[in-house]
Amino acid sequence: MRLDNFLSKILNISRTQASDLIRQKEIFVNNSLSLHKDQQVSNTDEVRYRDKILEYEEYVYYLLNKPSGYVCDTSRSLYPSVFTLIKDYRQDLACAGRLDVDSVGLVLITNDGALVHQVIANNFITKTYYVELAKSLTDEQVQQLEAGCEIYLDKEKTIYLTKPAKVQRLTNESIYLTISEGKFHQVKKMLKYVDNEVTLLKRVAIGNIKLPEIPLGTYLKITKPTI
Ligand code: URA
Repeated sequence: MRLDNFLSKILNISRTQASDLIRQKEIFVNNSLSLHKDQQVSNTDEVRYRDKILEYEEYVYYLLNKPSGYVCDTSRSLYPSVFTLIKDYRQDLACAGRLDVDSVGLVLITNDGALVHQVIANNFITKTYYVELAKSLTDEQVQQLEAGCEIYLDKEKTIYLTKPAKVQRLTNESIYLTISEGKFHQVKKMLKYVDNEVTLLKRVAIGNIKLPEIPLGTYLKITKPTI
């Protein structure tokens, strides 16, 4: 990888800012001053900025316990992004499946694009939500949720029949709902279809990954998960 690219990724700065650091004689590669932004560096090279050795990790994985009031993207919004909670933020991070601003719980954040794609595009990876409801659920409504609900996909009111789901009753007004897809506002729309309303939505699992027992707003750094 080119040195300016390496610095830009690891220090979370632009390539121009990275070139400036090189020009200002701040960067050493294997103890030699580096003056060339196009110098190639690899994992085995020691890159130093002032007194700090910069260690580049190609892929990083975080399990965040998302609090309410945060959004899962970086678009300008009234709300802060979940990425502001990650101390070692880097620009190539993405959420492998979003949660709404008022939803809480498990968000897998990574720069491993293949894994993000696998979670978002694969209809076999289950997502389990703990759901609190405004009203009691009847057995018929549970069956309806499991069999499939007709939800609107967009403003044009394109109708979509949700794939079979699994409901585990906890109380009359709370369930675990497991689905294997992730349409926009899907859980809320499914509950609306059965004449109910979500009052709390918390994602507790994505495939094999369970929400760790950590405070809201904090995260665990993990190695590549098997989903
Ligand atoms: N379904 C929803 O309606 N909202 C979420 O945040 C996740 C799933």
